[in-house]
Amino acid sequence: MDLYFNAYILKMQWSKKHIISIKDFSRAEIDFVLEKSARMEGLLASGKSTKLMSDKILATLFFEPSTRTKMSFEAAMLRLGGRVIGFSGVSDTSIEKGETMLDTVRMAAGYADMIVMRHPVEGSSRLASENVDVPVINGGDGANQHPTQTLLDLYTIKKQFGKIDGMNICMVGDLKYGRTIHSLVDALKMYDVELRFISPQNLKIPAYMTKELKKSKIKFEEREDLNVQGCDIVYVQRIQRERFPDPQEYEKVKDCYVVDLGVADMMKENAIIMHALPRVTEIKHEVDETKNAKYFQQARNGVPVRMAVLCLVSGVDF
Ligand code: CP
Repeated sequence: MDLYFNAYILKMQWSKKHIISIKDFSRAEIDFVLEKSARMEGLLASGKSTKLMSDKILATLFFEPSTRTKMSFEAAMLRLGGRVIGFSGVSDTSIEKGETMLDTVRMAAGYADMIVMRHPVEGSSRLASENVDVPVINGGDGANQHPTQTLLDLYTIKKQFGKIDGMNICMVGDLKYGRTIHSLVDALKMYDVELRFISPQNLKIPAYMTKELKKSKIKFEEREDLNVQGCDIVYVQRIQRERFPDPQEYEKVKDCYVVDLGVADMMKENAIIMHALPRVTEIKHEVDETKNAKYFQQARNGVPVRMAVLCLVSGVDF
């Protein structure tokens, strides 16, 4: 009885809720959406998901480029029987005439039942959510947060290892500007994990985050050399060229780490390589065929996870 009651409470907590930062959610709420994502993957495979959102419209407002987030949300909505409106890049919108982000979001809230937005300015999704009465899902706000990426990352880890607790996770690359890293670390603070951060000096994980990790009593180390021995997961992060104020600084670090077959050989037998993608030069294509490479599967997991998220925020039962 308690289990059913807990599930009911968790479902109500997700219903009509904006998804802006992973920090807004408890571990129980995150675990709940991971369980629902597994259920959704089953419904998707059996073809039983196609009517869940047949009366709903999703608006995708992408002020910044995206392949996976935009397309997987669209695929999720279509697989649920819903419809999608929106834009990718502002060149065909009235923002070109001077309309503000907020007015654009207000318009979309009048046309759709929920909004997914990506914007280069940190805090933009939060601001949008405070000004509309439909759920807003943050598809990435600058270097800040990418909460649904985190949910699909955690889902991938759980699917692979059957658990998140006990994992030794190494994060490699641009830990300063990488929003997927920031969101994921915020979530992992709620689990019993060990973290290893590998980055150049000028792309280290922000100090406020290491302070929070210490407060949460999470064991972690920071280093510069690409030593991934002993890790269960190597999470590679692209150097975020678009966030560097000085292009010359980017040139200095753009190829600082390259995961190749030699690095893959250094890993534990069952360790996996993850990457939110897009990949540029940081993982060699020769690694794609190894059993360790899970990044394409990780991206595919975005569809059932985002299907579950769309249903949960809309209050649609499944
Ligand atoms: N993982 C991710 O956010 O990819 P896109 O930038 O292509 O959406």
